[in-house]
Amino acid sequence: MATLGNRAGRRALSRREFLRLGAGGLASAVLLGGVGCSGEGQSGMAPVRLTFSHGPDESGTFRQQVEEFNRLHAGEIEVRYREMPADTGQYYEQLRTEFQAGGGEIDVISGDVTWPARFAAQGWISDLSEFFTRGAREQYLPYTIESNTYEDAVYGVPWFTDAGMLYYRKDLLEDSGFSDPPGTWDELKEQARKVQRDSGTQYGFVFQGADYEGGVVNGLEYVWTSGGDVLDPRDPDEVVVGSEQALEGLRTEQSMVTDGVAPKAVSSYKELESYTVFGDGDAVFMRNWPFAYALSTDPTQSRIRPEQVGIVTLPVIAEGVRTYSGLGGWNLFINTASGNRDAAWTFIQYLSAPEQQRTRALRGSYLPTLETLYEDDEVLETVPILALGREAIQSARPRPSSPSYPEMSLKMSEQFNALVRGVSSPEQVTSTLQAEIANIVEQGGEPRSEVESIP
Ligand code: GLC
Repeated sequence: MATLGNRAGRRALSRREFLRLGAGGLASAVLLGGVGCSGEGQSGMAPVRLTFSHGPDESGTFRQQVEEFNRLHAGEIEVRYREMPADTGQYYEQLRTEFQAGGGEIDVISGDVTWPARFAAQGWISDLSEFFTRGAREQYLPYTIESNTYEDAVYGVPWFTDAGMLYYRKDLLEDSGFSDPPGTWDELKEQARKVQRDSGTQYGFVFQGADYEGGVVNGLEYVWTSGGDVLDPRDPDEVVVGSEQALEGLRTEQSMVTDGVAPKAVSSYKELESYTVFGDGDAVFMRNWPFAYALSTDPTQSRIRPEQVGIVTLPVIAEGVRTYSGLGGWNLFINTASGNRDAAWTFIQYLSAPEQQRTRALRGSYLPTLETLYEDDEVLETVPILALGREAIQSARPRPSSPSYPEMSLKMSEQFNALVRGVSSPEQVTSTLQAEIANIVEQGGEPRSEVESIP
């Protein structure tokens, strides 16, 4: 039976059990104890105990690295991995509550690419400019450094990067006579229908339509691949989500469900539900992040093999329109309230080092942030996503970078989900967002006091 999390040493849950429980529910129910060795070092001093927060370790690579770090630093530093919800919004809320209560117990935080501006503006994460030197920063993909920079200071070390990609069943497309994957959203629908008819595959396309951050990125990708945007790139105070292009994009997203290409259930799908369905062989196409490649083709969990899967950039509304992928990624921050900054930095250096990034790429298909790994032959050969997904990585586009992003995101999440559920029309969604986001922008870049916003 397919299991998730078995390599990580927990009680093996079947994939169905896991889905029933929900990734967020599972994550909040499981608070893992220390994974390293404890005891006193040679000096007789107790080791520095660090708490590191991160989402579930589905590929099992991360836990092994924590164990290795603890072995290497036995008696000096001991890292405890605190598992947080897979849903980035739930993880964010949990951190926010702890920060508001005075900082909490976490020393090193893995954080989403959209968090640095807000956390830095609130003074919750440390300015790392002193540790993370200019020379060291130059080794990284430039945009990953940009997304960790707020008011000229750098707050995070890029750990892995992400870009939305279109996965397709190469074998099924070929059997149905398609030599190329779709270039436009309409072609995707046509191919999905024919392949479904020919092969009996249950669903045409699965993506993330739930009311959460991933649903925001999916919605934005439809807007962007139709030539639209949320804020005017030349003037970020100008809200343009009410445009005809954005409307077209959201019509397309809704039509995936109303035309029967995607199941109605995509309105509650996050990453896990999508790659589970695709990995079970029940979908022709899937939109997902790179890590879904390792998970959906893992022989212990999936029915499909890597050679059956193709990856390409996301389709566009019409030929000639530029493709974009939502830019994602995770970074390593130090909690300002941590009393263990030096040890925290030692751990961050270990996790972000070429060897560790390489292992995570090879075993978990996490995209590295260090430029040299994109020229590493073994990585390129063993992690096809790097070569196949290169174009998607090059087309990656950030979500609005602003301390007010969390408020914008909540509105988009609710509206895009209403669209996918079919309870709001694309017109209602774009006009509501135009007004609500304009309101957020008008209130200024600085967030309302976090304390006031506690319900
Ligand atoms: C991935 C991305 C992250 C994004 C999240 C949405 O983890 O790396 O940036 O916010 O998915 O679910």
